[in-house]
Amino acid sequence: MWTLPEIAVTRELRRLAVLTSGGDAPGMNAAVRAITRTAIARGLEVFAAERGFSGLVNGPLRPLDVAAVGGILQRGGTILKTDRCEAFLQPAVRARAVEDLRHQGIGALIVIGGDGSLTGAHQLTTETGLPVIGLPGTIDNDIVGTEDTIGFDTAVNTALEAIDRVRDTAYSHERLFLVEVMGRSSGFIAVTVGIAGGAEAIVLPDRSIDAATLVSELPGRRLRNKPSSLVVVAEGTDPTYTQRLAAELGSLGHPARACILGHIQRGGRPSGHDRVLASLLGASAVDHLLGGYTDVMLGMRKGRIATTPLQRVAHERKPLPPAWLELARTLAS
Ligand code: F6P
Repeated sequence: MWTLPEIAVTRELRRLAVLTSGGDAPGMNAAVRAITRTAIARGLEVFAAERGFSGLVNGPLRPLDVAAVGGILQRGGTILKTDRCEAFLQPAVRARAVEDLRHQGIGALIVIGGDGSLTGAHQLTTETGLPVIGLPGTIDNDIVGTEDTIGFDTAVNTALEAIDRVRDTAYSHERLFLVEVMGRSSGFIAVTVGIAGGAEAIVLPDRSIDAATLVSELPGRRLRNKPSSLVVVAEGTDPTYTQRLAAELGSLGHPARACILGHIQRGGRPSGHDRVLASLLGASAVDHLLGGYTDVMLGMRKGRIATTPLQRVAHERKPLPPAWLELARTLAS
């Protein structure tokens, strides 16, 4: 069972703002709800910046009360909307945004998003001194300092449901299928669904494998003359890669079908795991702000909520555990 730390109040705070930024992730709404209701329970007022950092730049902020966050726990996406805000890359724009916040009596900000959003959060607090807490909200799970990000578990389960269906067809037609999952630069979804879906091989975003090697690495086919094979391919940066790989496999005498799961992995009802993770992190973000914390991200490590400097989050990527890749290979044999 995850535990919530008890934190003594050391900072005076009247109003805080919250925003979701970058790619949406299932569970973001649960975090917004937990932040809002915890803050109100502690006597604070809560305001939402809509469409990510664009909401800080363009305003106006929307007041959130207890009712405004009702009925959203089970909804995917984010009721606050989200965006990737180009203007916010400029320090002058960030400074103006914080000036506006201060004029409205807002003394702190909680940012829910992936690595790019948390980098923006770090820049904003170091440049302006506004207290900021970050929460890891991305299906990619590629954030250091936390074993798990909000949305990852749901995305894995969504991908698995699709993979199980594809497997039925792969078996019935004795075919080779390539299933592309999300992860432009992260292989966490690929390796996790690869293990959980019994994939015969996994292609990571670094693309360190070609069609001929892939064929030689399909152990089931080679050793047990397996009728069907399923390869999980991480999206990577080239949107044509999976289709091309299927064509190359075909020209090597291994006809393959490509199935691109795409954005269906981003939306949908958050799993119980993601709802609880987001609720604990959201509630604790308020208590960390009241406890004097700033410039940190909250994550889950060894069953506990743990802080990681946003500076680290901005500069490091979480590596894939090599043992997981090894396990995927062993189990596919
Ligand atoms: O949310 C993370 C992610 O899904 C990545 O895996 C992917 O590379 C990216 O977002 C794509 O996002 P978009 O299509 O919104 O640019």
